[in-house]
Amino acid sequence: MLVTGGAGFIGANFVHYTLRNHPEHDVCVLDALTYAGNRDNLRSVAGQIRFVEGDVCDADLVDRLVAACDVVVHFAAESHVDNSLHDAEPFVRTNILGTYTLLEAVRRHDRRLHHISTDEVFGDLPLDSPDRFTEETPYQPSSPYAASKASSDLLVRAWVRSFGVAATLSNCANNYGPYQHVEKFVPRQVTALLAGDRPKLYGTGQNVREWTHVDDHNAAVHLVLADGRLGETYLIGSGDERSNREIVELVLELMGDRGGYDHVPDRPGHDLRYANDSSKLRDELGWRPVYSDLRAGLAATIDWYRDNRWWWEPLRDRSEARYRVLGR
Ligand code: NAD
Ligand code: DAU
Repeated sequence: MLVTGGAGFIGANFVHYTLRNHPEHDVCVLDALTYAGNRDNLRSVAGQIRFVEGDVCDADLVDRLVAACDVVVHFAAESHVDNSLHDAEPFVRTNILGTYTLLEAVRRHDRRLHHISTDEVFGDLPLDSPDRFTEETPYQPSSPYAASKASSDLLVRAWVRSFGVAATLSNCANNYGPYQHVEKFVPRQVTALLAGDRPKLYGTGQNVREWTHVDDHNAAVHLVLADGRLGETYLIGSGDERSNREIVELVLELMGDRGGYDHVPDRPGHDLRYANDSSKLRDELGWRPVYSDLRAGLAATIDWYRDNRWWWEPLRDRSEARYRVLGR
């Protein structure tokens, strides 16, 4: 199994999950080790996998690695919306050209591909409505990140239809869990508090996200790999929607901190609300989130950051310096 982006947050958790639950796979990770990739995420399993440092846009390298595997799970991407608002070029390159490069190799060697995507491709939903995204919701991406992921999804769908590539897609909601980069919402707030700083809420904090534990995401990916219908898209989401303000207040409560938080300038074009209807995944493949209690899942995640300062301390200063440039 070739895992692209396996040194990032979800990809590394996927590698750990696979070795624990699906030991029949020999895992090879391809990762460019950008600022978001970290060999330490795979340190405890380094002897059980093959690691190749390289770029998913490198056609020769990708061709060789795809030829040597049976199945590819494609996580590699630029993943942070705020960065895409500052400089979209790496997003266009990795997310679009990288996916194209992989698709051509998969097509040449007739390999199975699962493409990891996001609910951000659908744009956003009104705050107070019962609406949720479905597999049929038209694409209406808001940010350069979302537009690049939407483009990659459309490439995969075209390669399925025109060339018969054996691919599936999944679009998941916001993930949380260990090894998430400190630039992202939950780790940024948790590590701020651990470092004696204050949480930072964009705008009013009313924006709503649907929170899914990373292991529940990765369990769904394995179900799709095993039994998903080729050419199909599956939405993944726990159903647990929270405003950003609620999350910050929950983190403060779980960490026993009464210090409060700061409001900072809002993200331009900030999507209001994401919510996935994951009934296709639940009905067809029997997926259910194991981490159905967000409070307990967040408490365990906070413990992980508390116990692993060595992991995040070297990353935080650089991440906060980038936020100062962005004014957030
Ligand atoms: P991440 O930024 O933590 O990790 C991305 C990984 O890809 C890093 O290890 C990085 O080094 C690698 N990478 C980047 N450019 C590369 C290139 N050109 N060649 C090879 N490797 C490269 O991202 P993440 O949060 O783990 O997201 C993984 C995937 O899941 C992405 O496709 C993202 O769109 C999708 N996704 C993320 C979430 C979420 O909440 N984080 C939710 C739904 C979907
Ligand atoms: O929905 C899936 C998407 O979730 C993934 O495709 C993306 O890769 C992933 O980064 C995430 O995107 P978001 O933009 O929703 O995540 P982020 O962690 O950047 O922010 C979550 C929410 O919190 C969002 O409404 C912005 C807000 N926020 C973020 C940060 C970093 C804050 O209020 N304060 C912050 O400091």
